[in-house]
Amino acid sequence: MIEVRGLKKSIHNGTNMVEILRGIDLTIPQGQFAAIMGPSGSGKSTLLGLLAGLDAPTEGEVILDGTSISRLNEDELAEIRGKKLGFVFQSYQLIPMLTALENVLLPFELNGSFSNLGNGRARATELLESVGLADRLHHYPVQLSGGEQQRVALARAFMLEPPIVLADEPTGNLDSHNGEHVLDLLLRRHRESRTTLVMVTHDPLISERAERRIMLRDGMVIEDTLTTEPVAAAEAHL
Ligand SMILES: Nc1ncnc2c1ncn2[C@@H]1O[C@H](COP(=O)(O)OP(=O)(O)OP(=O)(O)O)[C@@H](O)[C@H]1O
Ligand SMILES: [Mg+2]
Repeated sequence: MIEVRGLKKSIHNGTNMVEILRGIDLTIPQGQFAAIMGPSGSGKSTLLGLLAGLDAPTEGEVILDGTSISRLNEDELAEIRGKKLGFVFQSYQLIPMLTALENVLLPFELNGSFSNLGNGRARATELLESVGLADRLHHYPVQLSGGEQQRVALARAFMLEPPIVLADEPTGNLDSHNGEHVLDLLLRRHRESRTTLVMVTHDPLISERAERRIMLRDGMVIEDTLTTEPVAAAEAHL
């Protein structure tokens, strides 16, 4: 479960103080698929970064399964991230000098001591097969298409079987076919492993499939809607 309390983020911009998030309170229960929407600049990526502990809030806190991550040091954060979080960025963020397989293995090598997932290489290979990349294991990111790179990024996010997956416009840079494929992979994971999925998206067709829609504007939540029949709604489109 994710709890967000009184979350504020301000940034000094030369002489001005810019308020990016102006007091956000949210509770996202385990297993929910929540879509975060809102205009460009409304603070969606900033919020997701704070949920992942990639950035520190100015005020307030983020609590993951009872642990406040907002006051942890880097080592403690790394441990929590390794255990609980998978993050999918809009821009893939693969390491260019590592192959697909090595990119997927990376979280395991950084955090594998926290997991009991057995042989990392076998698991990374299996994950890449599950996203349709069995014949791309030893390709470098530059040798992969955008959709393929995003699928490597998904496999990497799933490597440590995180209970929470945070995704920032994971289909934003893909054509509709590849976008659909990536979305199906995320939703399958959400359904089969009861992964909590928090996804920033501009796409109303995606947010329609979410169990909850959280709308941001100017750093505030202006709308928070639960859909009535979440599972049926998501499956009708698959
Ligand atoms: N490091 C920074 N310094 C100054 N301003 C920043 C910084 N990071 C973000 N901002 C500002 O904060 C606001 C929110 O940014 P954020 O990236 O969270 O928006 P977003 O909702 O994700 O937008 P988009 O849909 O375009 O991705 C923007 O106005 C942005 O210019
Ligand atoms: Mg953004």
